[in-house]
Amino acid sequence: MSIQTSQVLPRTPRNRPAAAYDLRRVREDFPILRQKVHGKPLVYLDNSATTQKPQVVLDALQHYYTTDNANVHRAVHLLSERATRAYEEARVKVQRFLNAAESREILFVRGTTEAINLVAQAYGRRNLAAGDEIVISYMEHHSNIVPWQILCEQTGAVLRVVPIDDRGELLLDEYRKLLGPRTKLVSIVQLSNVLGTINPVREIIALAHRQGVPVLLDGAQAVAHLPVDVRELDCDFYAFSGHKLYGPTGIGVLYGKAALLEAMPPWQGGGDMIHSVSFEGTTYNVLPYKFEAGTPHICGAIGLGAAIDYVQSLGMGAIAAHEGELLAYATARLAEVPGLRLLGTAERKGGVLSFVLEEPPIAALDVGTQLDHEGVAIRTGHHCCQPLMDRYGLSSAARASLGLYNTREDVDALVAGLLKIVAAETARSRPQQVSSGAAPVYPEAVAATPEEAAEELIELFDFLSDREDRYRYIIDLGDQLLPLPETEKTEANRIYGCQSRVYLIARKRPETDDVVDFLAESDADIVCGLIAILQRVFSGQSARRILAFDVEIFFKRLGLDQHLTLGRRNGLASMVQRIRTLAQQLA
Ligand SMILES: Cc1ncc(COP(=O)(O)O)c(C=O)c1O
Repeated sequence: MSIQTSQVLPRTPRNRPAAAYDLRRVREDFPILRQKVHGKPLVYLDNSATTQKPQVVLDALQHYYTTDNANVHRAVHLLSERATRAYEEARVKVQRFLNAAESREILFVRGTTEAINLVAQAYGRRNLAAGDEIVISYMEHHSNIVPWQILCEQTGAVLRVVPIDDRGELLLDEYRKLLGPRTKLVSIVQLSNVLGTINPVREIIALAHRQGVPVLLDGAQAVAHLPVDVRELDCDFYAFSGHKLYGPTGIGVLYGKAALLEAMPPWQGGGDMIHSVSFEGTTYNVLPYKFEAGTPHICGAIGLGAAIDYVQSLGMGAIAAHEGELLAYATARLAEVPGLRLLGTAERKGGVLSFVLEEPPIAALDVGTQLDHEGVAIRTGHHCCQPLMDRYGLSSAARASLGLYNTREDVDALVAGLLKIVAAETARSRPQQVSSGAAPVYPEAVAATPEEAAEELIELFDFLSDREDRYRYIIDLGDQLLPLPETEKTEANRIYGCQSRVYLIARKRPETDDVVDFLAESDADIVCGLIAILQRVFSGQSARRILAFDVEIFFKRLGLDQHLTLGRRNGLASMVQRIRTLAQQLA
């Protein structure tokens, strides 16, 4: 069974009057916010990464699996009919939410990333050839860069990048200049996940359309924070993710104008996307099914529909007004933190506050780790925007991002945490570093074997039962690291995947058979501490013993597997891997 009718919406304004915004009641809708983390009330300020889910979304998911679960579009039985109806109703909810002309213009995908890849492959491969140009901007997320790079490799097309100014605003004059006879597609973020910049997308679209160039908008960050009307914007494609709109993960949307989608070939083959299949040839289903091969994320779509109902019950205008007011408050309060530099100060901004602590310098990873101890959840890293971070000469930044349930008290908790971190850092005396360029000085082994060194550490950690004490001890260990000469901080010595800048060198100790010495350094204190732990266990030991040492069991016994986030454990694993590789080479 295939539903082949498409709901058509008249072109009507959709802005309903917003009810008064009752923040206390809104927060009650989100059970996850009631918890404590590390003994402190949870302050969730990582909404750009993903948003929390209101009870109505959780109920919708539960209801679907409890009462309606069946595959869609396929069977005649009642459950399948109910599941199909709920799935298709969700599509209509998305259509109305975006004010798309027809429900067949709404394709369910996994998220923004898949939506952009779909356009790159299905539209791009059909319509772009060698020398054609795709225009993106400097502030794009990797998911609006890499799919186009792949397309460029496949077709010989070329990527052109619109620069930005220091405030984080697109240079529209440069954009105008980049639009040329070879431009075949523009793909731009509506609201930057690092800078918070709200781009002048109407103007961007109008300029491209003047040259007959279609425009894709990456709405991943915008859709939960601004009213979006794809017909008013006149964008050709619009991509977003359900999980950033208070809905489930694994579901997202690609909106495309029907005429464009009609002309595009399918990008994945399988069940549901066909009209008929024979070995002689296959014909494809109508929109939107042509682009929904296989069993879709039925429950996800239904949950997304519930999330849309929820935000619409609050009113997108009211949400934007609340977050705008909170952004102004947060911007003013962050200015009180000494040495804090805000990234992204565009005239039009959404609730994203990325920053670095420069005086005293404190690595973003350490800021995030210490705020977590205070119950404050923020994001640190490159935010999947490495070219943008390079533009600012940074490898990582901290980011607090606001959602519809955030309060002034949340912002106050963030600022209090930051002030505490800066005060502690200012009071801290750091060990003297040797002058840069000096020959490396390697530490002596702390025990006869890695096992003995490990036992000593395990005993010490057993003694420190409190999480905070262990953290402090790790930081103190890191403070005692012997420094790595500046000349060794090269690309070849860099280790990626550690959420900070890490360099590591090793040598076979002169006049020994296979004794390995190593030195490493990071710009993050917590990583320096982890390096110090590895150094105590491995440095000055024989390569054979290093390779025989069971590091997994050691980390478990140390309790590091519980105390470190997965990302940091992966970073630790990358360092261990490098040490083992070097030990193998030097043995
Ligand atoms: C601007 C922007 N685009 C695209 C994405 C990718 O979204 P997803 O990982 O949900 O596909 C993100 C995610 O953070 C984003 O912020």
